[in-house]
Amino acid sequence: LAGGADLGKMPAMRVLTGIKASGSPHLGNLVGAIRPALELADKEGDALFFVADYHGLTSVHDPAELARSTRDIAATWIACGLDPAKVVFYRQSAIPEIFELAWILACFTSKGWMNKAHAYKAKVAARLEEAAGAPVDDIDAGIDMGLYEYPILMAADILAFDTHAVPVGSDQVQHIEIARDIADRINHVYRAKPEAPLLVPPKPLVTTQIMLPGTDGRKMSKSYDNTIPLFGSAKELKKTVMRIVTDSQPPETPKDPATSHVYQIHRFFLDDAGAAALAERYRAGIGWGDAKKALAERLEEALAEKRQRYDALMASPAELDAMLADGERRARAIARGVLDRVRKAIGIAA
Ligand code: TRP
Repeated sequence: LAGGADLGKMPAMRVLTGIKASGSPHLGNLVGAIRPALELADKEGDALFFVADYHGLTSVHDPAELARSTRDIAATWIACGLDPAKVVFYRQSAIPEIFELAWILACFTSKGWMNKAHAYKAKVAARLEEAAGAPVDDIDAGIDMGLYEYPILMAADILAFDTHAVPVGSDQVQHIEIARDIADRINHVYRAKPEAPLLVPPKPLVTTQIMLPGTDGRKMSKSYDNTIPLFGSAKELKKTVMRIVTDSQPPETPKDPATSHVYQIHRFFLDDAGAAALAERYRAGIGWGDAKKALAERLEEALAEKRQRYDALMASPAELDAMLADGERRARAIARGVLDRVRKAIGIAA
């Protein structure tokens, strides 16, 4: 098919990932998502990162909070080392081509695929469980089309940029597979050759899941209310660390680093030698108060400078916008090319 993607002109490997706007990033996000993504971006020549602010709209209906959270995520990633000059960094909402493509994709997406998407399925399952066998009058009551179509918008996020690989946690793999299925169907309908696809079928790049314990020992997660904030004040950071649950063993009792939540957080902020030395201190016997104090100090040391940068960016929306402007321009240029190719192929005047 004329006008297919010219793979020869495309970068060897384009990786793209999105971060949904909702809430404020915490320590678990830094270790589990931000650090690995930035390491990957360092390796790959062509990396795109974006704040999925329109995905945030599926759950955040307070305008001030959606705006704040979008800025928060952008500022956090830049403060943590994302270089907007090296990586294409943008807000999803700044790229109207994504939303036009989302409609086109919807016309090639089986409704049945959406019924099986995990976020929707989980809502339905929760409803059935709640009803405990009683008949449910409207299984979809209170479920918005935004949640239902979430995977289609996500597919557009990915397909609008000829993305090859999407680094994600295992919970997002199904979404990448849906994007791939939609691309395959469109390529098939318009008889695109595999070497010149109309839409590039993406692959998930499953990142090893790093599990950071929260203050109650369960996985650190907003939904458990057990997070250590990334850029709270120094005082807040210390206070939260002091709240981490421990047992009542006296200081002189040897402690097992493998089962200590305090150690399991601390080690991600040390190099191998430092982690080994700390483990030795635990085995020799350490008071939990001292162990927490050492962690709080290490975290403060690791985060103080980043926090300053973050605070400055949060205080100056204009500076943040300026840092995103170039990425948004570059992202739009890519998406425009893909959309023009698709419009031409489907019979919509360019
Ligand atoms: N759904 C992803 C999450 O909740 C966020 C996201 C939106 C995304 N669009 C994307 C991730 C595109 C990767 C690619 O984490």
